[in-house]
Amino acid sequence: MKETIGFIGLGGMGLALATNLLKAGYGLRVYNRTAEKARPLLEHGARLARSPAEAAEPGGVVVTMVSDDRAVEAVTLGANGLLDRLGDGVHLSMSTIAPSTARRLAALHRERGSHYVASPVFGKPEVAARAKLWVATSGDAAARARVRLLQEAVSQWIFDFGEDPGAANVIKLAGNFLLGAAIEAMAEAFTMAEKHGVPRRQTYEFFTQTLFDCFVYRGYGKLIASEHYQPVGARPSLIRKDFGLILEAAAEGRVPMPLASLIHERLTATVAKGREDIDWAGFAREVSESAGL
Ligand SMILES: NC(=O)c1ccc[n+]([C@@H]2O[C@H](COP(=O)([O-])OP(=O)(O)OC[C@H]3O[C@@H](n4cnc5c(N)ncnc54)[C@H](OP(=O)(O)O)[C@@H]3O)[C@@H](O)[C@H]2O)c1
Repeated sequence: MKETIGFIGLGGMGLALATNLLKAGYGLRVYNRTAEKARPLLEHGARLARSPAEAAEPGGVVVTMVSDDRAVEAVTLGANGLLDRLGDGVHLSMSTIAPSTARRLAALHRERGSHYVASPVFGKPEVAARAKLWVATSGDAAARARVRLLQEAVSQWIFDFGEDPGAANVIKLAGNFLLGAAIEAMAEAFTMAEKHGVPRRQTYEFFTQTLFDCFVYRGYGKLIASEHYQPVGARPSLIRKDFGLILEAAAEGRVPMPLASLIHERLTATVAKGREDIDWAGFAREVSESAGL
C-alpha cells in the first residue's frame, strides 16, 4: 500500500478522483461536508474524517476538490481547517479558483511551514472516472515533485507551469474561456445556418470533418447540433462561477475580454431560467432563442 493521504470534497469530480486514488493503492482519509457521500469509498477501505483537520496529517498530503474559492478557504482556514494540522505537509488544491486565491493560500501555507500546489484539471467527471484528466500544475518545486505520482494516478497528461502558485489557475481559466468561446461561435454559426434552411447536424458534420476537426468542436458541437445537452458534465452555475473568475482576472490584468462578458451573461440567463439540469454548453440555447428558434 502507498502512503495514506487526506481527500476533501466528494462531489462529481472528487468522488471519481478519490476512487482512482484508492484503486492506485493509496490509503485515504476522506472528508465531505455531507458525510453521506463518502459511503462508497468507505466500503472500499477509506477512513471517514469528521473535519478537514482530521483528513490532514502533520507532514502528509491532503487533496482538496471542492466547488469554489469560498469552499477551499473554508476547509483550509475555517474552524477545524486543514492548515492548522498540516505541519510541513502539502496541500494539493485541484479546484478551479482565482489565481489570486491560490497565491494567498500559498503564502499562508508558507508562513506555517506547509506547501501549496495548484493542480486544476480539465475533463468532465466521466473523464475523471477513467483517470484521463489533463492537469495544469504550479507551486513550490519540491512540493510539486512530492505529489507527482498522485497526479499521474488520476490523469493522462500533466503540464507544469512553474513556481507561481497562481499560474496553473490562470491556465485553467484561459482554457474554460476557450471552451466557452468555441461553444458561442458554434451556437451562432449553427443558428445562422439553420435559419437559412441548412440543418444544424449538416453544419456540424461538415465543419468537424474539415476545418474544425478537433476534440472540442466534435464533443461540444454534437450537443449544440442536437440541442440535447446531456449528460451533464458541469452545471451552468459551476461554469458561471468560472466566468466570474475570468472577468476578475481580466480586470486585475487590465485585459478587455468582451467575449468573456458575453458568455457570462449567457450563463446568467441560463441559470436564471432554472436550467441546471443540462450541461453548461446549454447556454447555446440562449443564442437560438434570441434568433426566434
Ligand atoms: N464538473 C466538471 O466537469 C469539472 C471539470 C473540471 C473542474 N471542475 C472543478 O472541480 C471542482 C469540483 O467540481 P464538482 O463538479 O465536483 O462540483 P460538485 O459536484 O458540485 O461538488 C462540490 C463539492 O464541494 C463541496 N463544498 C461546496 N461548498 C463547500 C463548503 N463551503 N465547505 C465544504 N465543502 C464544500 C461539496 O460538498 P457537499 O457534498 O456537502 O455539497 C462537494 O463535495 C470545482 O472547482 C469545479 O469548477 C469541475
